Amino acid sequence: MQNLHIETCPILFKDKAYLELNELIKNEDYSSIFILTDTNTQEHCSKILLQQIKTVKPIEVFEIEAGEKYKHLETCVSLWETLSEMGADRHSLLINLGGGVVTDLGGFVASCFRRGIDFIHVPTSLLGMVDASIGGKNGIGLGALKNQIGIIRNPKMILVDSNYLPTLPANELRSGLAEMVKHGLIYDQGYWNKFLHLDKLTLSDLDALIYESIQIKISVVEQDPTENGIRKILNFGHTLGHAIESYSHTHHQKHLLHGEAIAIGMLMEAYLSYKLTGLTETELLEIKQVIQKYYPTPSFSVDERKKIIDLMKFDKKNKGSQINFVLLKKIGECAIDQQVENELIHEAFDYASKA
Ligand SMILES: NC(=O)c1ccc[n+]([C@@H]2O[C@H](COP(=O)([O-])OP(=O)(O)OC[C@H]3O[C@@H](n4cnc5c(N)ncnc54)[C@H](O)[C@@H]3O)[C@@H](O)[C@H]2O)c1
Ligand SMILES: [Zn+2]
Repeated sequence: MQNLHIETCPILFKDKAYLELNELIKNEDYSSIFILTDTNTQEHCSKILLQQIKTVKPIEVFEIEAGEKYKHLETCVSLWETLSEMGADRHSLLINLGGGVVTDLGGFVASCFRRGIDFIHVPTSLLGMVDASIGGKNGIGLGALKNQIGIIRNPKMILVDSNYLPTLPANELRSGLAEMVKHGLIYDQGYWNKFLHLDKLTLSDLDALIYESIQIKISVVEQDPTENGIRKILNFGHTLGHAIESYSHTHHQKHLLHGEAIAIGMLMEAYLSYKLTGLTETELLEIKQVIQKYYPTPSFSVDERKKIIDLMKFDKKNKGSQINFVLLKKIGECAIDQQVENELIHEAFDYASKA
C-alpha cells in the first residue's frame, strides 16, 4: 500500500510503517521513548509494537484505564507528572498505541508537555484507524462535555496496521465500520458499492477498505482545515446519531457504541434526505439494506423519541437554536445546513424501526 499524507504528516501501512518508524527514531535521535496504552491495548497490542521497534534508547510503557471517562484532565496531569519524574525532555517521543481515546488524549498530552514534544499515533481500533487518528484533532473532555479542550496538531507519523484488529471486540469493529460506510455515503459512490456487495466483514477485506476510507477522510479534511465548509459533511448521521448515543448512555439496557448510534442516525438521515434533498427511493433502500445487515433494528417509544429530539437541541454543532443536518442529495454527494421539521423526524424513527 502506498504511503498517504495529511498535510506534512505521513500515514504509513504495516511493515513499511515500522521501517519508517525505526528510521525516524534513528534520525531524530530521541532522548527517550514513551508508549501510551490503555489496559486493553497494553495487553493485546504493546507486544506487537515493541517487537518492531529497534533502538537502544530507553522505552517506557504507560497504561491508563480504558474508556471515554478517562479522557479527562486528571489523566493528563498524572501522565505529565510521570513524564517529568521519568526525565522526559524536549526531545522525548510519545507513541500513542490505542483507540481514539488514547490517540486523542496522548496527542494532547504530548502537545502541551514542555510546550510540545513529538508524538506518533498507532491506532489499534477500526474507528481509530479510519477516523480518530486522522485530521490532527487531539483533545479531552471537560465535565460532561466531550472534546471540549484540545488542540489541532498533526503527529510526526500515523502508523496503520490491521494486525492489531483481531483482538478488537466485534461490537467495536462494527462501531468503526459505521464511519467507513459514512465515508462512502457522503463522498464516494464507488466506495459505497463495495459495502453493498460485501457479504461478511473479514479481516482480509479490511485492508483495502481502511486504505480508501482514510483517503476519503484526508480529502475532506484537506479541503477545509478550519471546518467552515465541506468538513461538515463528516457529520452525516451524527446529528441524530449523537443524540441517540447520549440517550443510550443514560439507559443501560440500550447502551450503544458511537458507531452503532451513528448507523441508526445515518439510516434516519437517509430517510430525511429521501424526503427533502433528492435521495431516490432505490438509494434509500440500498442504505437500509446495508445498515440492517450489520446493525440491529432499533425501537424507541414515542416518549424516548421526544427525549432524543430534545437532546439534539444541545448538540454543540448547532448555531443558536437551529438544528442543522447534513443530508444526501444522492449517494456520494451532500447538502449541508438543512433544517428539518420535528414531524419528519418522527417519521424517520418509524422508518428506521421497520425491518
Ligand atoms: N480526533 C478526532 O478527529 C476523532 C474522531 C472520531 C472520534 N474521536 C474520539 O475517539 C474516541 C473513540 O475511539 P474508539 O472507538 O477507538 O474508542 P476507544 O479508544 O475507547 O477504544 C474502544 C475500546 O477498544 C479497546 N481496544 C482498542 N484497540 C484494541 C485492540 N486492538 N484489541 C483489543 N481492544 C482494543 C479499547 O481499550 C477500548 O476499550 C472518542 O473519544 C472520540 O471522541 C476522535
Ligand atoms: Zn463519528
